[in-house]
Amino acid sequence: MNTTFPRPGLWSQLAWRFKPVDCGAVACTGFTGLAASLPADVREFVSDSYPRNHTFTPLVDRLVPKRKLAVRVAGLSRYYPRPLSSLLDLSCSKGYFVFHAASHPLCERALGIDLSDECLDVCGRLKSHFANARRVDFVRLTLPELSQRIDEFGGPFQTALLLNTYQYLFFGSTVAPAVGQDHREIFRLLRTVCSGRIIFHNRLQLADLQSDPQSRASQAGTGALYHPQAIRAAAEEFFRVTELRRWLGRPVWLLDAM
Ligand SMILES: C[S@@+](CC[C@H](N)C(=O)[O-])C[C@H]1O[C@@H](n2cnc3c(N)ncnc32)[C@H](O)[C@@H]1O
Repeated sequence: MNTTFPRPGLWSQLAWRFKPVDCGAVACTGFTGLAASLPADVREFVSDSYPRNHTFTPLVDRLVPKRKLAVRVAGLSRYYPRPLSSLLDLSCSKGYFVFHAASHPLCERALGIDLSDECLDVCGRLKSHFANARRVDFVRLTLPELSQRIDEFGGPFQTALLLNTYQYLFFGSTVAPAVGQDHREIFRLLRTVCSGRIIFHNRLQLADLQSDPQSRASQAGTGALYHPQAIRAAAEEFFRVTELRRWLGRPVWLLDAM
């Protein structure tokens, strides 16, 4: 089967910004008995919790993204290879991108990893109401752990998402240590889990990071290592990098495996 890797031109990127987003068009269908069986605290968690750009409403048979999430799903999924055959979300949060991918007819596997037990618990509950549950998995793993165990999950994925998380991989966070504060090691590991395209949308300037990674950077004295040129140079050892126009305040990079 031929796979295409869309690489939009300047005009198409600009035109896209002015398109209205239809939340219903990027809803995840294929659920049964969802709204009635989810406890109120779970419904509240998925519809109103951090991160606020990853919230949605569970209806009886579908998840409907709130506007900020709908904008991101519509804007980022248009870079998925066609057809989408497998997807890995490297920080799946409440799982929306994973369910959305698994709703694509030819997507045989969709895996979400994260380190938030609360999120993974909610993803598991949603999965138990999802018709394509056998295609979907959510697991508590770090990137180095997944890299070691990638064959257990069917081998490297065609498509991967790394969204708003790179700074935690680099500097570490309350839930996991840094991946050596080493850009090259992070991209080496990313290449072991993705054989096609990574869609990369992250904060790449130290000054743009939240207070926790900034304070880790200053404690370790490694803040000067965190800048787009260093990150791109490391990515280019393993991926062909297409840098798109800034979108939602941050660059979007398409990383195609070499
Ligand atoms: C800002 S949220 C982004 C979630 C999702 N990718 C999105 O864009 O909607 C950051 C995510 O990174 C996860 N995380 C935090 N520290 C991490 C670490 N050290 N390694 C990997 N993931 C981490 C959090 O659990 C959270 O789901």
